[in-house]
Formats: sequence, structure tokens, C-alpha cells
Amino acid sequence: MARPPVLLRPDGPGLEQAAGALRAGELIAFPTETVYGLGADADDEKAVARIFQIKGRPSFNPLIVHVRNAAHAKEFCIWNDSAETLAQNFGPGALSLVLPRRGGARLSNLVSAGLDTVALRVPDQAIAQALLARSGVAIAAPSANPSGAVSPTMAAHVATSFAKGIACIVDGGACRIGLESTVLDLTGPAPVLLRPGGVSAEDIEILTGALADAEAATIKSPGMGDRHYATKARLRLNAVAAEAGEALLGFGASAPDGALNLSAQGDIIEAAANLFAYLRRLDAPGTQTIAVMPIPESGLGRAINDRLRRAENRQ
Ligand code: TXA
Ligand code: MG
Repeated sequence: MARPPVLLRPDGPGLEQAAGALRAGELIAFPTETVYGLGADADDEKAVARIFQIKGRPSFNPLIVHVRNAAHAKEFCIWNDSAETLAQNFGPGALSLVLPRRGGARLSNLVSAGLDTVALRVPDQAIAQALLARSGVAIAAPSANPSGAVSPTMAAHVATSFAKGIACIVDGGACRIGLESTVLDLTGPAPVLLRPGGVSAEDIEILTGALADAEAATIKSPGMGDRHYATKARLRLNAVAAEAGEALLGFGASAPDGALNLSAQGDIIEAAANLFAYLRRLDAPGTQTIAVMPIPESGLGRAINDRLRRAENRQ
């Protein structure tokens, strides 16, 4: 999409257009009570891949999935008592809960960056809620800024950063909180604060008791490598062809017919969208090595290679 994003008012027609864009697999920017989000249908692997591409993230960092309410959240995760308590006290609002992904959840793999967990948030903002209701989808959305830049709290910030690549920006004025949501990991025995944000740690601790310390949080934080999905089979990167006994993960037109191909057209967005599912498919019992054909080291290719190298280095 080479055209600049359309600026939409948050009225009936504007919301309908933005919801339609989401359903059509396009990216939109929209306000929440914390910061503006760069949203995609969380069940659309290619749309989620495009989020990583236009943010220019050099690695796959998992995204927050925005849902209408706790019942909607439960479609995607395995809920627990801490989640229930926190949802009752702070939901909807600036709190994102990391929980185990539900098996068979209709959710992109990339949204979790290949992890078996998912971060869920119920935004407390009328426009975000209206988009969730009208689109009927869960919305994967990081903050709507290029990687490394500060988070946007006004529509104009988003328009300056993204001259192309997103269908529209819903203008909801300034964000009420102006700071990202608090991210809490509820997958372990005690909640871990992964990112301080709109709901204070002190308020959370009144309900949960002490949150696990920052060091534990560092170990669990994504991007560190150790928690990410790694194949049981060895990986051999930049392979020209599979050797005897190896499974081949192809890329581009030069891959042999019949090989599982991340993208026969050499489309890097398609490759990112297929990456985690294909790795899992090839990582079958009995497969010792997965040979991976070279992926170009540019744009989203850097994030794909980063993930492949981490998996390779674990072995
Ligand atoms: O307020 C917010 O949270 C905004 C608005 C748009 O909702 N979103 C936002 O997203 O700040 P983002 O992608 O910029 O930050 C998401 C944070 C990252 O630090 C990411 O590592 C963490 O949440 N996160 C997401 N999924 C996770 C998971 N499954 N496990 C651990 N951390 C996760
Ligand atoms: Mg961010």
C-alpha cells in the first residue's frame, strides 16, 4: 500500500471503514487509553507479519492482543485465578496479562513470536472498544511507532512516522494515560512484572502479594532467546540443499519442488507469516536436522534470521 493513510474521525462511518480495513487484512492505527496502537487482525498471519515489517523491528518481539472483555480473552488463553482477580479489579484498562496460549486458539503464531504464551489486554477506551465490536476480531497491536522511537499519543505522531503501509489512522485526540500498559506474566507460580506501565505495581501487589523481582523478569523477557520456541532438531542455516536425512525448509524460486517453502515467490512477508508453523511442522520426531535455505538479510528478513540464529545457537 503506497498511499498515505487516511485520517478518519471516530464516528460511525469512520469506525466502519477502519473495522472493514482490519477484516480485510490491512493495518490501521487507533487510539487506546494508553498510546496509539498499530493494529491488525490477530488471526491474520500476514497482516501481523506486516506489523513487524513496517515497525522495522530487527527481531520478533511478541505483540499484545486486544480483546473486548475477559470472556473474549478466554478464547485465546488458559485463564487462571490471578487473571480473574486482576481482571475484576483493573479490567478493562492499562494492564496486559501474559497467559498460556490455548491449544487451537484462532491466533497468529507470529503474534506470540513463536512462544506458547499470549499477552491479552481489554482496552478501556470507547474508540478501541468500538473497533473491537464492529470488526469482530481480536486486534494485535504494538505501539504505533517505528522500532526504537517513542510511543505516539496523538494521531499526528502516527501520521509523521508512517507515511505509507497503513490503511488509516482513527483520530481520537490525545491518549488519556499516555504511557503503555503494565505487562504482567501470569504463567509462573508468582506474577512477574515484565513492563511497568499504566497500572502501578504497588496497586497490583495489594491483590497479588509481592511481584517477582526484576531479575526474574529479565530472564523471562522476550527477545532474550531462552524462552522462545526452539526446534528439537538441529538447524543448519544458509543451506543450498538438503543432505541425506535432513528436512529442507526452502525459500524462493530455487527451492526444489515438493520442499516446504516459506515463500516460493521470495516474498519476505509471506515467509515471516509461515516461519513458526513450518518450523514446527518440520520438527517431527526422527528429524535430526532442518536445513534452511538463505533468507535475505534485509527488512523483515533480519528478524527471521535473528530468530533462526537464536534457535541454531541453542543447540
Ligand atoms: O499500552 C500498550 O500496551 C500499547 C497499546 C497499543 O495497547 N501496546 C504496546 O505494545 O505497548 P508493544 O508491542 O509496544 O509492547 C508489548 C510488550 C512488549 O514489551 C512485549 O515484549 C510484551 O508486551 N509482550 C507481548 N506478548 C508477550 C508474551 N507473550 N510474553 C511476554 N511479553 C510479551
Ligand atoms: Mg512499543
